[in-house]
Order: sequence, then structure tokens, then C-alpha cells
Amino acid sequence: MILVGGQGTRLRPLTAKIPKPVVQLVDRPFISYMLEWLIGHGIDDVIMSCGFLADGVRSVLGDGKQLGIRLRFVEEPEPRGTAGALKLAEPMLDERFLMLNGDVLTDIDLSAQIAQHERTGARGTLALVPVADPSAYGLVVLEEDRSVRDFVEKPSSDTAASNLISAGAYVLEREILELVPPGRNVSIEREVWPVLVGDGLYGFPSESYWLDIGTPARYLQGTFDIIEGNVQTAVQERLGSDWLSVDEDADVRGRVIPPALLERGVHVAEGAHVGSLVVLGEDVSIGAGSVVERAVILRGSKIGAGCELRDCILAADCRVGSRTKITGGAVLGEGVSVGADNVITRGARIFPGVQLPDRAIEF
Ligand code: GDD
Ligand code: MG
Repeated sequence: MILVGGQGTRLRPLTAKIPKPVVQLVDRPFISYMLEWLIGHGIDDVIMSCGFLADGVRSVLGDGKQLGIRLRFVEEPEPRGTAGALKLAEPMLDERFLMLNGDVLTDIDLSAQIAQHERTGARGTLALVPVADPSAYGLVVLEEDRSVRDFVEKPSSDTAASNLISAGAYVLEREILELVPPGRNVSIEREVWPVLVGDGLYGFPSESYWLDIGTPARYLQGTFDIIEGNVQTAVQERLGSDWLSVDEDADVRGRVIPPALLERGVHVAEGAHVGSLVVLGEDVSIGAGSVVERAVILRGSKIGAGCELRDCILAADCRVGSRTKITGGAVLGEGVSVGADNVITRGARIFPGVQLPDRAIEF
């Protein structure tokens, strides 16, 4: 069961109209990476627990036939929290199942995690990864035998007694659902894990790649890690050993520096520099002499001449006038139009459809 019911507020404006699980990451909806990872570990039956913009998720993914799996959807009447969502799906669950937060990009060895779960006889086994600052996550302290000594959701930085956090991938026994009261919002992190501490909750520490893609900065990081091959994904097959994928139908007159991925219909004009670490979606065009580096520009966006785009994300169908600079983690929502000679930087987020005239902003 994959939890995809969050509103994705921290990833706005990318998630203003599109639910987080189906936001495009490199060349496919984000959730496809999770499904491919699960399939790689023999999972063939997936339940998506949806809330916010559920139809968007369903229409993109269908019934899973294409992926060779069974894909079902559970829709919450209102947000039920991470454990409440699980409770709603109870009739569909087997005796032992996996539960996954729907916003992590990882190649953790789930098969090894399941094997450990069986070996220890755990009721729940949490995948764990080390991070520099655990305060935005669920902090876990382990005993020698990998049983959990302590679980603290969103610890204040001074209580950090470990650098291991819950990675959002759990092996669970169905019986733990007895701990979840029906019909209301229940957080698995705050109301279930603490009860299981000392009573069958184990951790599976992993050194694998792991990233919660929930903010624009981490979305960019995830993009770069995929096209650099720091995380194992199916995109690697497209990029090959030169870390470059330029669709044969792309028209490139400027320079492209790998790692980079350019889709069908892309146009790069004379004197433009694209890369390294760039993704250009279908039909994107880059004007003469423009520089695009460490950036994602989604389907249909058109960039004028002499622009500078660095460390930024442009959603689909944006328009950018000549000599405009977009840098410093700025994010343009779908259909944003920015005139010539603007400067947009310092993490500015522009909401879908907004139109800025020439020389309107020097942020
Ligand atoms: N169906 C449903 N209903 N899904 C939900 C709900 C809900 O009410 N609330 C959250 N989710 C989904 C989100 O869509 C996301 O995929 C996942 O549950 C986790 O929610 P986040 O809002 O992203 O939580 P977080 O990132 O702050 O913390 C969680 O993930 C960390 C790892 O990234 C916790 O599980 C932490 O313990 C963990 O370390
Ligand atoms: Mg998250």
C-alpha cells in the first residue's frame, strides 16, 4: 500500500494542480519510480491510498496492466492520516504487507528488509537511513538486535540521539491494525510506532540512496541524482554510458553538456548552452545564446534568446522573454509567462497562469 494522500504543499506550485505522485520527474510521473522499485522486488499487487486530487493519480496510472501489476485505489472521504488511511484499506490487506510513503525516491533493498522482518518475527520493520539533520523526519534509536528503542516524529534538533530516520518503507503484520481506531484521523508515526516500541517494532538500517522529494530543492536534487545515476532507476537505460539522451527528433544547434535528457520536439537554437544536469521536456525550445544549467524545463515551455536559467524548475507551457534570468531555486508553475529582462531568483515561486510583463521584476 502506497500513501499518496498528502497535499504536497511544500512542492507548490508544481503540486498546485497536479497531485505530487504524478508530478513529472525526469521523464515519468514520480510514482513510476516507486512502482518500478517495488516490481523489482517481486511486488505485483499495489493499493494506492489517495485523498487530494485522487482522480489525477488514477487517470495517469490506470489499472496497472501496462506495468504487469494489479493496481487499486482507495479514496478517503477526508484525510485520515497515515494510519487512518491504512485502516480504510484493511479489507484489502494480506496478513503481511508493505506500506510506503508515496514521496520517496530510493533503491533500498526491500527483499533484504522483508527477510530481516521474517527472521526477527517483528510486527513492524521500518527501513532506516542516516541523514545529517533528522528534525524533519521520524528519528529512530536502535538496540543491538535492531529492535527500536525509541521513535520520535519530527524531533527538535537538540534531542537528536541518532542520525537514523524512518525512510517511509515499512513491512507490517496485519494485526497492528488492531491498534488503529476506525473512523478518524490517526497518525501512524505519532500513535502507532510509539505503542510498538519494545513490542515488535524493528529497524532495517540501509546505506542505499534515499530522498524525500517533497520540496523544490529536493525535487531538483532527485532529478540530478537520477540523470547522474546516483540512484538506480530505469532512466539509466535511456542515458547509457555517456549520460546523455537526446531524442532523434530533437533539433539541437547549440551545445549540450551531459548529463542531460532532451525529449522529442526539443529545439536548442544556435549558441545556446544546455547542461550539465538539465532535463528538457517535449517541445521545449531554448532561444539563441541562452544558458540552461542544473534545471528542469517541462513540456511545451518556450525560452527566449540570451536568457540564463540555472538551478530552477519550469513547469509545463511556460513562456520566458529574452534576456530574463531565472536562478536560485526559483519555480514557475504551469503556464506562467514572464516577459523580457526580468530577474527571478531566491526561491521565488510563481503560481500557475501568472503573467509578468517585460522588466516587471528584479527579485
Ligand atoms: N492517504 C493519505 N492520507 N496519505 C497521507 C495522509 C493522509 O491523511 N497524510 C500524509 N499522507 C502521505 C503523503 O502523501 C506522503 O506520501 C506520506 O503519507 C508521508 O507524509 P508526509 O507529509 O510527506 O510526511 P513527512 O515527509 O513529513 O514525514 C514522513 O516521512 C518521513 C520520511 O520522508 C514520516 O513518515 C516520517 O516518520 C518519515 O521519516
Ligand atoms: Mg514526505
